[in-house]
Amino acid sequence: MQILDGKLVSAAIKAELAEQVAQLKAEGKKTPHLAAILVGNNGASETYVASKVKSCAEIGFNSTLLRFDEHISEKHLLDHITSLNENADIDGILVQLPLPKHINEELVINNIDPSKDVDGFHPMNVGKMVSGLPTFIPATPYGIMLMLEHYNIETKGKHAVVIGRSHIVGTPMSILLSRNSNPGNCTVTLTHSQTKNLKELCLQADIIVAAIGKPGFVTADMVKEGAVIIDVGINRIADETKKSGFRLVGDVKFDEVAPKSSYITPVPGGVGLMTIAALLKNTYHAAIGQKGGMN
Ligand code: GUN
Repeated sequence: MQILDGKLVSAAIKAELAEQVAQLKAEGKKTPHLAAILVGNNGASETYVASKVKSCAEIGFNSTLLRFDEHISEKHLLDHITSLNENADIDGILVQLPLPKHINEELVINNIDPSKDVDGFHPMNVGKMVSGLPTFIPATPYGIMLMLEHYNIETKGKHAVVIGRSHIVGTPMSILLSRNSNPGNCTVTLTHSQTKNLKELCLQADIIVAAIGKPGFVTADMVKEGAVIIDVGINRIADETKKSGFRLVGDVKFDEVAPKSSYITPVPGGVGLMTIAALLKNTYHAAIGQKGGMN
């Protein structure tokens, strides 16, 4: 069993980006600039956005964090997005999800200029991704592809079972893994809440991507010996021994699944860090007017 080390791989990607940014600056070109929008006080979202902003600074990007009260009107939020769309200094825009219930997420995403949509959530970018055209790939699946690439994990002809069909992870992941590319060329089963025989499907999987948001959902009895396990879950579990009052666990029961696996991502220290690295890559590509590091 080998740990897929998100810390190591994301650090390598960030170091490469830092060099590329230094090069841009040396050539008198503009510094990549990411704008992040955070609405409300969701603890997990605050942590994610803070990491994204901090990572920008680490590699020499500019970043702007726009924080709004959870009661902000939809109209007010859309006006801010329009102003970021029109601001030539801003290369990438991300609106941290989920948004409060009174705001239509789809409307918000549709209002982001597709050329600044570094999350790759705008329907135009999703359409391009499905068509195999150069575009921004959603950061978590993109980060997972970079991780598989870094460790040279054989994916061709393998059976990948993706658990969860979200627009952010499961659905784009299934598309990327089934592409005629490397990594890729998998036979993909996309599973969800209505899937029958999930355990049997997982037992046939050479690669499992767990993106369901349920702590410890994937157990050892669901995993074939030698499978590659990608754990996307970042679940907060109450833990009084921690200063924060919680600890993070994945969607996979790591302790029992790890011994059966060939490769496995830990939580924390796995996919989460790769998501940030991939977002930074997308932002760099937005800044130089070239989309899609994967293509
Ligand atoms: N919420 C959970 N994951 C993500 C992500 O990758 N991007 C944004 N904007 N929100 C998220």
